[in-house]
Amino acid sequence: MKRIGVVTAGGDAPGMNAAIRSVVRYAVYKQLEVVGFERGYEGIIDGQAKIMGPRSVSGIVNLGGTILKTSRCEKIKTPEGLEKAAESLEKWGIDGLITIGGDGTFRGANELYRVSGIPMIGIPATIDNDVPETETTIGFDTAVNTALSAIDRIRDTSISLERIFGVEVMGRQRGFLALEVGLAGGAEIILIPEIKINLDKICERLKADRKKGKKSEIIVMAEGVGNSAEIVNYIIKKTGCEVRLTSLGYIQRGGTPTAQSRILASEFGYQAVNLLLEGKRKKIVAVQKGCITDVDLDEVLKKTKEIDLKRLELANIISY
Ligand code: F6P
Repeated sequence: MKRIGVVTAGGDAPGMNAAIRSVVRYAVYKQLEVVGFERGYEGIIDGQAKIMGPRSVSGIVNLGGTILKTSRCEKIKTPEGLEKAAESLEKWGIDGLITIGGDGTFRGANELYRVSGIPMIGIPATIDNDVPETETTIGFDTAVNTALSAIDRIRDTSISLERIFGVEVMGRQRGFLALEVGLAGGAEIILIPEIKINLDKICERLKADRKKGKKSEIIVMAEGVGNSAEIVNYIIKKTGCEVRLTSLGYIQRGGTPTAQSRILASEFGYQAVNLLLEGKRKKIVAVQKGCITDVDLDEVLKKTKEIDLKRLELANIISY
């Protein structure tokens, strides 16, 4: 192992830069050369890359986004794209590639391994926290705290004006972010894609809450549960209550990574380089029972991460 590649792909997540920094600095410390591919798999296919030394990652540990840029690359899903990417890795003399991203990134890495035979190590980084076999991902903690500070502000106005607020958080497929933020923010109702929503039941609960003397409430909903504006309009019609909607959107993906996201990124980067040095070929770094470990990429790809429904129950019980 002489020269490794690093790439960030898919949606950006706060802490990706701290992971790049850890990979580059630790790899160079271990006498490896590092090539950074830009704009995700697009940059691998196009050969857009640069040699990265310790100084190329100065002053980035605290920055959101990714200095390598990223993309949602469709070409990597095609045989031609994969062929080109494999040729490019060969041309750059890459002996192992570290891919930083989520599920889509790892599917790409798996295919690229099949075509190129080059070892692939994945570092889970997504605000959705939906990567199986790891308790957490880089950026999740930051996104939770960003959304939480917004919800705390919304609660101020919700209490002052005695209104109900719907808050849409990210999570097109999964509700990890909504659940965490909802529980931490004391949301009265949390809607996640994993659970079929019953709007009439929600309206009944809101009406009952009013009778009990509750004057303001927060409904946290993952974007994957449906059209949040339609949901809110339905509630207004059925309950006669004043309900406002805020969509937090992309502010949840940017910003300064929390200490947790940076530390996780630093540890994941270190572990990923070690796995390549140990000769591992297809692995994902992970957190299990609070410890840094690694799992087979195949295992990650065939599983779906379970959401902790007990937490949802807890949030419901303690918010009435
Ligand atoms: O990064 C994950 C995620 O935030 C999802 O929750 C969301 O649905 C998606 O990215 C949207 O991102 P984009 O517009 O970049 O596809």
